[in-house]
Amino acid sequence: MASEQDVRARLQRAGQEHLLRFCAELAPGPRAALLAELAALEPEALREHCRRAAAACARPPGPAPDLAARLRPLPPERVGSAYRGDAGMRRLWESEGFHQISRNKVAVLLLAGGQGTRLGVTYPKGMYQVGLPSQKTLYQLQAERIRRVEQLAGERHGTRCVLPWYIMTSEFTLGPTVKFFKEQDFFCLDPNNVVMFEQRMLPAVTFDGKAILERKDKVALAPDGNGGLYCALADHQVLEDMERRGVEFVHVYCVDNILVRLADPVFIGFCVLQGADCGAKVVEKAYPEEPVGVVCQVDGVPQVVEYSEISPETAQLRRPDGSLLYSAGNICNHFFTRGFLQTVTREFEPLLTPHVAVKKVPYVDEEGNPVKPIKPNGIKMEKFVFDVFQFAKNFVAFEVLRDEEFSPLKNADSADRDTPSTARRALLAQHYRWALQAGAHFLDAHGVQLPEMPSLPSSAEPPAVCEISPLVSYSGEGLEVYLRGQGFPSPLILDENRARVLQP
Ligand code: UTP
Repeated sequence: MASEQDVRARLQRAGQEHLLRFCAELAPGPRAALLAELAALEPEALREHCRRAAAACARPPGPAPDLAARLRPLPPERVGSAYRGDAGMRRLWESEGFHQISRNKVAVLLLAGGQGTRLGVTYPKGMYQVGLPSQKTLYQLQAERIRRVEQLAGERHGTRCVLPWYIMTSEFTLGPTVKFFKEQDFFCLDPNNVVMFEQRMLPAVTFDGKAILERKDKVALAPDGNGGLYCALADHQVLEDMERRGVEFVHVYCVDNILVRLADPVFIGFCVLQGADCGAKVVEKAYPEEPVGVVCQVDGVPQVVEYSEISPETAQLRRPDGSLLYSAGNICNHFFTRGFLQTVTREFEPLLTPHVAVKKVPYVDEEGNPVKPIKPNGIKMEKFVFDVFQFAKNFVAFEVLRDEEFSPLKNADSADRDTPSTARRALLAQHYRWALQAGAHFLDAHGVQLPEMPSLPSSAEPPAVCEISPLVSYSGEGLEVYLRGQGFPSPLILDENRARVLQP
C-alpha cells in the first residue's frame, strides 16, 4: 500500500496536494482507499491534465476564426449511400459484407462507458427500455441484431459464424452491465464471444486547475470520453484478442441509438470494397443549425467539426440542388480496420486533443460538507472516438436514412428531442413501415382498414402498434411470409421464438 508520505510527495509534484486535506481525519478503510486512488495518478500526467483543462476552459468558445476558408465537404468519390444511386451496387456491398461476416472477419464494438447524465438514470443506458410492447432493453435489441446477422450470413454461405461483441464500459457501467448480462443469460449469445473491458477515468478539475474531491475520501473521476477507446484497447489487449479470432474489420457504435444496425453488411461491404481503413455513417442534417458534428475536411484532412465551431453563414451554405453543403451529420457509427486501430493505439493516441465539457460536479467544501452545485463548477476532459479520422489513409463516409438508422436516446422525456418517447416511436414507426412494405395492412377496432402510410416519418406516432423482433428481421427482410396480404389489429407483435403473429 502507498504511504501517505509518498502520495503527498507525488501530489506536490502535480500541484494537487489539497486532495489530502481530509486524509488525517479518515477512518483506516476510507483512508487506504483514497491513498490507493491517488497513488494510481501519475504526477506529471496529473499536472498536465489539470493545466490543460484550465487552459482549454479559458479559451473563448465559438466558431474558429479561420475555419471557413479551410473547410470542404468530402469529395463525392469518398461517399457512398444506402439510398441514392445504383441498387445493384448496394447488393454488391451487402454481399461483400455478409461474406466477411461469414468468414468471422467482422466484430462489433459498443461504446458503453458513458454516464448518461442527461437521461438521468442511475444504471447503464443499455439497460434502459423505452417502453416497447416487448419491454426489450437497448442491450437486448443489440444482442438480437447480432444473432440475426450471424444467422443471415451463415445461411448465405452455409456456415456457422460468430460476430464477437466487444463492449467498452467504465467504472460506472462495468459492474451493472456484467450483472445484467449474466441475469439475462447473455441474451443467448455465447459468453466467450462477449468481451467487456474498462476505459480509464480522469479527475474532474475546477476552472483554476485543481482536481475536485467528490467526498473526503474520493476524487471526482469521470470516464475519459468515448475516445478513451484507444487507450482502453491497448490497456486490455483487445486488438490482440481480435487478432487471435481473425477479426479484420470492426464496427464501432454508441449504446443509445435504438435503430443501430450492428455490423451492417451494406456499410461493411462498402468500406471493404473501397479499401477504407476508417469510415463513418452519416445522416443528412435536418436543418443548418442542427447540433450535430459534421463529417468534412479541414485542410484536406477528414474530420468531424463540431456544430459550435461552424459559423451560421457556413452552416447555411447550399449546393446548386438546394441541399446543405455541410450536411453529413456524424452519428457515432464507425468502421475501422484492425490494422488502423493498431496504428492508432501504437502511434497516434497521444496526439489526440481532449475536449472540454463544463459540468456540475458534486464536491466537498472547505469544511468537508458535500455540495451539489446548481451551476457548472468543473471541467471534464474527454477524448472523442472520431478524432482519429485525421490519421486515416483512406477515409470514407456512408449516407444512411435517419428514419431507418438513427434515433438516439439522450434525454429524459421532459426534453423535446432524443427521448425515450422519440426512440420508441422511431422503432415502432420503422416496424410499421416494414410491415406495410411486406404487404400487411392494419385494422382499426371496428375491423376497418387503416390508411397506408409507408413514408411515415419517425417523429409521428404510427397508426397501429407493430413490433418485430430483430430475430425475425434485421432490416425489414423476410417478412412477406408472415405478413403478405393479411390484415392485423393493433398491436401486432412478431415474436422471436417461432416468429408467430400474436393477435390479442
Ligand atoms: P454521450 O456523449 O451521449 O454521453 O455518449 P453519455 O455519457 O451517454 O450521456 P451524457 O452526456 O452523460 O448525458 C455517446 C456514446 O459514447 C459513450 C456513451 O456510452 C455513448 O454510447 N461514452 C461516452 C463512452 O463509452 N465513454 C465515455 O467516457 C463517454
